[in-house]
Amino acid sequence: MIDMPGPSADGSGTDTNADTKRLSRKEEKEMNRAGVTRYPKPSEGSVDNPQEIGGVRSSTMRAVVQTGYGSADVLQPGNVERPQIGPDEVLVEVHAAGVDRAVWHGMTGLPYVGRFVFGIRAPKFVVPGFDVAGVVVEVGNKVARFQPGDEVFGIGKGTFAEFAAASADKLSPKPASLTFAQAAAVPMSGITALQGLIDVGRLAAGQNVLIVGASGGVGSYAVQIAKAMGANVAGVSSAAKVDLVRSLGADRVVDYTSEDFADGSEQYDLILDTGGNTALKRLRKALTPRGTLVIVGGEGGGRILGIGRQLQAVAWSPFLRQRLTMFTSKAHHRDLDRLGLLIESGDMVPAVHRVYPLDRAPAALRDLETGQIRGKAVIGVKEGP
Ligand SMILES: NC(=O)c1ccc[n+]([C@@H]2O[C@H](COP(=O)([O-])OP(=O)(O)OC[C@H]3O[C@@H](n4cnc5c(N)ncnc54)[C@H](OP(=O)(O)O)[C@@H]3O)[C@@H](O)[C@H]2O)c1
Repeated sequence: MIDMPGPSADGSGTDTNADTKRLSRKEEKEMNRAGVTRYPKPSEGSVDNPQEIGGVRSSTMRAVVQTGYGSADVLQPGNVERPQIGPDEVLVEVHAAGVDRAVWHGMTGLPYVGRFVFGIRAPKFVVPGFDVAGVVVEVGNKVARFQPGDEVFGIGKGTFAEFAAASADKLSPKPASLTFAQAAAVPMSGITALQGLIDVGRLAAGQNVLIVGASGGVGSYAVQIAKAMGANVAGVSSAAKVDLVRSLGADRVVDYTSEDFADGSEQYDLILDTGGNTALKRLRKALTPRGTLVIVGGEGGGRILGIGRQLQAVAWSPFLRQRLTMFTSKAHHRDLDRLGLLIESGDMVPAVHRVYPLDRAPAALRDLETGQIRGKAVIGVKEGP
């Protein structure tokens, strides 16, 4: 049996919020099957102050638990077993966890093709979250790069929790100039921006670059990296976020709600496409005759595959002078180190929209889904909002 905390987030005592609603019998069964332990009643402790339950407090931790695929209502605060680490892993005490589109895809199970990774019928990862910043508390016997007490950032497993396991290869020392919350906003999005622009896009100084989705997670880093590399940068965003994109250093900002950035009036050597679902034909009009298009992603591509444009790009490219590409980013500490250098030199500053407390993670995912986030949202686990 799982008891959810009673009081509403605003302290009114009225449980009007879906984040704290009682679970159905089916959800309870799923959580029990997943090894989720009982959450304290308000009389025993609060979300922010869980107490001992049966004297086994030390082996459990607070976490966000995913009960199925769907809206943010499938995310519930709960207590779960602390993860065990393998020989190549470390256990991180999570100070902050980043919220990015991969968490949303894992939560909704959309597009369906992603379920080959996340789990066909139900999510196989009980606790969501990949981006992490925190302190190493335990190291596997094959790990030489870290020791307990090291402050790190990178990519872990189930980071919306007090503790998370992470492969040592996917962590780097946290840049000293960043708070844990800022550092947690970097890994997935920053690595994707870096690899998309430099490794795949072959960005060179002096090029004209267009970042579609410049106000988002990946785009907010891409603008700054391209500027640091000496490019002339135009960014595309909605009207409400034009000021953000300009503050990130873009030379020009196009509001996609009122201007057509792909009408051919401007042409770019490199386009990094991270937002919307602009047709390939239109994107080609905005490319120079030998320009490169790198499709990172974008929502609206359908519920089944979601990557129709990417497949089309790969099919067309061999027959064109323009280079049309797609890619999937790969996490490795080498790229975190490269990002760390950009951060320490002051060329890149994470755009953190807001830090949400752990039990408000569903609200963070709702805000991401409805386009409210400017840059990145972060879950404050040990480090509060
Ligand atoms: N290939 C990979 O390895 C990889 C890695 C990471 C992410 N991704 C994918 O890349 C995409 C972006 O990720 P993210 O984390 O940056 O997402 P995000 O934070 O939600 O950002 C999305 C961006 O798209 C913009 N946008 C929305 N509708 C648009 C439209 N019609 N035209 C132009 N721009 C539009 C948004 O602008 P406004 O908010 O101003 O409306 C925002 O800047 C997602 O689909 C994600 O799954 C792929």
